[in-house]
Amino acid sequence: MNVNTKLWKLSTPIDKENPAIMEAAELLRDKQVVAFPTETVYGLGADAADEEAVQKIFEAKGRPADNPLIVHVSDPSQVFQLVTEIPEIASKLMSAFWPGPLTLVLPSNGRAAKNVTAGLTTVAIRMPNDPVALAVLHASALPLAAPSANLSGRPSPTDAEHVMQDLAGKISAVLDGGPTGVGVESTVVDCTTEIPIILRPGGVTKEDLREIVPDIIVDPALADVHNEKPKSPGMKYTHYAPESPLWLIDGDAGFFKEQLQQLKEEGQRIGVIASSELAAELDHESIIACGTRRDLAGIAGELYRALRHFKKAEVDLILCETFEETGVGAAVMNRLKKAASHKIIQH
Ligand code: TXA
Ligand code: MG
Repeated sequence: MNVNTKLWKLSTPIDKENPAIMEAAELLRDKQVVAFPTETVYGLGADAADEEAVQKIFEAKGRPADNPLIVHVSDPSQVFQLVTEIPEIASKLMSAFWPGPLTLVLPSNGRAAKNVTAGLTTVAIRMPNDPVALAVLHASALPLAAPSANLSGRPSPTDAEHVMQDLAGKISAVLDGGPTGVGVESTVVDCTTEIPIILRPGGVTKEDLREIVPDIIVDPALADVHNEKPKSPGMKYTHYAPESPLWLIDGDAGFFKEQLQQLKEEGQRIGVIASSELAAELDHESIIACGTRRDLAGIAGELYRALRHFKKAEVDLILCETFEETGVGAAVMNRLKKAASHKIIQH
């Protein structure tokens, strides 16, 4: 497919009658796919009840058909259109974290198109906290299936330019609402089991969730790199990969320097992704700094931009430090380990 992808720049506050939002809503009702910002990353939306529309998402992204999509709603009451029941614990989580970066897996009533749920009996749903996303959801009056708006396997897009890099010519339009805030995707929580399970760490932290559900479990598959069957189907694919291979260096600045020096001596062109603290200690030309270690939310916000920074023609290998796995650091390290295909050099 080679279409002329429209790109609309929006400025806030978003007026309800904004012509770009109206046109985007019209395209969505007409079974087309449109990318829009959410508070986490940009999403590629289509009518969640329409199999033909949703198929266009899979085609544009090159996404495997067995990886289900998240349905976005404009209001918690829309959830009833899609599920057989809302367990009490799910209601509590919605009240506490919606709108926001939390996706709930609930029992599907079959109204979402088959390809949205990839044939599962459950459906993943979230209400995003972004004025553009909410305006499109309201204007289209449709629940929208929306995965991250990147080519499958690539880092998720945190601004409209990333979406254009991956999907220009393949999708009808992009709403540019500026860079996203959270920077990593939503947390996915399975609410169909007696005790809810975190299937993917994300913008809402485990610590936040424990305030509402003290006994919440983390899917053991997340810790087991060799597990072939995580409960969230998408977790098994190569993800977030930069253009050149990525290695994680787990150690202090001295150890990082040693590794860097050795690889340079072997003639490798190295790109470095580092906190401002580590960057200050290294004497190296190709470094992208992604914020202070003391602010893991800031690191999360810069992560995908950093992973997209180095081009294959310029560097042979990318090195990145590891971060503390507390708070949103758990999501940062989950994405980094996947981006590195679990290649970690330990001190
Ligand atoms: O922040 C986000 O969640 C972004 C924005 C656009 O909302 N969306 C996003 O979608 O990250 P995607 O498709 O890249 O990731 C969806 C994740 C996958 O890991 C998928 O396997 C999981 O949610 N998922 C979807 N439906 C599921 C279900 N019924 N059961 C278990 N996991 C499910
Ligand atoms: Mg994705």
